[in-house]
Amino acid sequence: DKGAYDYFMLKEIHEQPKTIEETFRGRLQNDYSEIVLGGLLNVFPKIEAAKRIVIIGCGTSWHAGLIAEYLFEEYAQVSVEVEYASEFRYRKPVLSSDDVVILISQSGETADTLAALELAKSKGATVLGICNVVGSTLSRETEAGVYTHAGVEIGVASTKAFTAQVTVLTMIALKLAKRKGTISNETYKVLVKELAEIPEKGRAILDDGEKIKAIAEKYHEAVNALYLGRGYLFPVALEGALKLKEISYIHAEGYAAGEMKHGPIALVDNNLPVVVVAPQDDYYEKVVSNIQEVKARKGNVIAIVTEGDKGLKEMVNDVIEIPKSHPAVAPLLAVIPLQLLAYHIALLKGCNVDQPRNLAKSVTVE
Ligand code: F6R
Repeated sequence: DKGAYDYFMLKEIHEQPKTIEETFRGRLQNDYSEIVLGGLLNVFPKIEAAKRIVIIGCGTSWHAGLIAEYLFEEYAQVSVEVEYASEFRYRKPVLSSDDVVILISQSGETADTLAALELAKSKGATVLGICNVVGSTLSRETEAGVYTHAGVEIGVASTKAFTAQVTVLTMIALKLAKRKGTISNETYKVLVKELAEIPEKGRAILDDGEKIKAIAEKYHEAVNALYLGRGYLFPVALEGALKLKEISYIHAEGYAAGEMKHGPIALVDNNLPVVVVAPQDDYYEKVVSNIQEVKARKGNVIAIVTEGDKGLKEMVNDVIEIPKSHPAVAPLLAVIPLQLLAYHIALLKGCNVDQPRNLAKSVTVE
């Protein structure tokens, strides 16, 4: 039931404050001073001992894995590789019983992800799942795992499942870091609190969502779009571009902002919308200079900025504000306006946002 919403996608975007909360409910305990992940209790010693963690998924789930790479490396100090399931399954990956493999899948039925799971198992690796559909093949075939509690996702374009995956991965990274002693108690507390505050901040973005409609009006006739971000927000740029291309059929590319001058800058002209995720974090100055490079070539910049950022407002064509947060949890907020932007653009183009052409909700064939 779509309720008051025109499309499931819009409903699911709006459910995110609730579904993120559902995903950490019961797991952030004792006034958020402790993270309890029952499904991983028995395997944590193995995860702690792992020299390397391999994360595997497809599409949006792969993007969640990329965010986890930054989290696991920064806080748990473990080296991470993130792989497309479709590539991994046909490579000759070097894996052993010392490795931990985390498979991410909303449906738990994606053929390539399941094949990667079997391959990892056959090499003796510890295989863990992050999955939304209870009782799915992935959840049955992995040794242990954590469910995302996003509820049924009907829109083909994944939204609330993605933020639930990122929530779970953040909890795993922090818990692992705590157990390994690679995070200070203070930072741990700050981050858990920041995670707990995401639903409220997400609501603030959604309450202001109508503004994004006006931005969509300006750009819905574009044929190409570029999405840029750095650090934790580079995967968010990839995800924003994927959302736009899959539901509006506008060709969009996500790029690490620092890579722009190695190719994509050649595309910039006054017809190109460039969406830049630019909150005030450690990368801010660098991202601002990337924005200046785009502006100098007459590109149209739509910037996702921290609330109250006046400087960027003057420099770019359009801004969408998000509440201030710690950089490690910023993806959970920054992705919301990108989902809404894709939605409104697709709607203006008359596309079927819930069932884009050529796509299926669950890719059970290769
Ligand atoms: C994008 C999208 C797809 C899926 C991908 C993996 O919006 O929905 O890219 O993320 O097909 O699906 P799951 O997570 O079910 O394995």
